[in-house]
Amino acid sequence: MITTSGLTKVYRSRGREVTALDGVDLHVREGEVYGVIGQSGAGKSSLIRCVNLLERPTAGTVTVDGQDLTALAGRGPRAGKELRRARSRIGMVFQHFNLLSSRTVQDNVELPLEILGKSGKERSRKALALLDLVGLADKAGAYPAQLSGGQKQRVGIARALAGDPKVLLSDEATSALDPETTRSILQLLRDLNRQLGLTVLLITHEMDVVKSVCDSAALMERGRVVESGTVGELLATPGSQLAAALFPVGGLATGEDRTVVDVTFHGESTTQPVVSQLARTYNIDISILGAAIDTVGGLQIGRMRIELPGRYEENVVPLGFLREQGLRIDVVSQDGPLVKEGAK
Ligand SMILES: Nc1ncnc2c1ncn2[C@@H]1O[C@H](COP(=O)(O)OP(=O)(O)OP(=O)(O)O)[C@@H](O)[C@H]1O
Ligand SMILES: [Mg+2]
Repeated sequence: MITTSGLTKVYRSRGREVTALDGVDLHVREGEVYGVIGQSGAGKSSLIRCVNLLERPTAGTVTVDGQDLTALAGRGPRAGKELRRARSRIGMVFQHFNLLSSRTVQDNVELPLEILGKSGKERSRKALALLDLVGLADKAGAYPAQLSGGQKQRVGIARALAGDPKVLLSDEATSALDPETTRSILQLLRDLNRQLGLTVLLITHEMDVVKSVCDSAALMERGRVVESGTVGELLATPGSQLAAALFPVGGLATGEDRTVVDVTFHGESTTQPVVSQLARTYNIDISILGAAIDTVGGLQIGRMRIELPGRYEENVVPLGFLREQGLRIDVVSQDGPLVKEGAK
């Protein structure tokens, strides 16, 4: 649904050059919630502004819903009109809401419909339906100053939906909100994604946001995407920083002569039977030291740290059994750092 290839953005100001995006290849599939995470200055906002062409990329292409927006940008008035139409199909939600304080809630939502030249009756019908969708049917006549932060963001989301977008872009939409309000806004985005089949690209610097709503994620560092994939794919990638942050496990060996391993489930096997089968088949007691598991589409994904009696050499066969179930096994050495799979 959204594809960027070789996307590059260099800002030039007062003789200085800043490379904010350095060849970003991103692929967001239709109907998914895709999170881009990274530290301040990593280039996240530049990415989202280039995706909707608010900012002209220095190089590379942006394709949204099959249309190459970069090809339309800056190519005469006819292409300009097409670009505007394409952009009206991309909704944008901002960190600081960007509502007009002099307009009522309903008039704020109607704004993009005015720009699209819709009639008064149609605008009002649409705005009220959208306010109902975001749970603010009773606030149509209120002014932004009379709303809480979470309510303002709901208005921002309703406004973003006014042009019937297929894609919603969100830049830190929850970072000005408290944790509980954040949860309710993320839930709203999730519901809209499911109900309307909306593809959502959201930018955040909070891992919790990625964890609670995203199907896929990318990690940005210094203008580059250093990791990306579905949550299951990330888990299946040895050494993935995103997977480690999404599914943290702790726990130390309870004594000498014990083997501690991290078992990663990435969608093919389920936790419960595997652990009990292992215990039954080899007649060993297994302790679970820590676990971070989520259920996605009926399958369990995540990590579990378990302890088996005996040294590593004595557990080669049971660990082989786990690998045969399609699980990734990382041995946690006595000194702490992980011994990666394959490096025996
Ligand atoms: N309009 C601009 N002119 C010049 N440099 C800019 C401009 N916008 C961003 N930059 C620079 O580009 C780099 C990436 O900025 P960007 O805003 O994309 O980061 P970010 O990941 O969104 O950070 P944050 O989490 O703080 O919002 C930074 O070094 C920033 O200073
Ligand atoms: Mg930013």
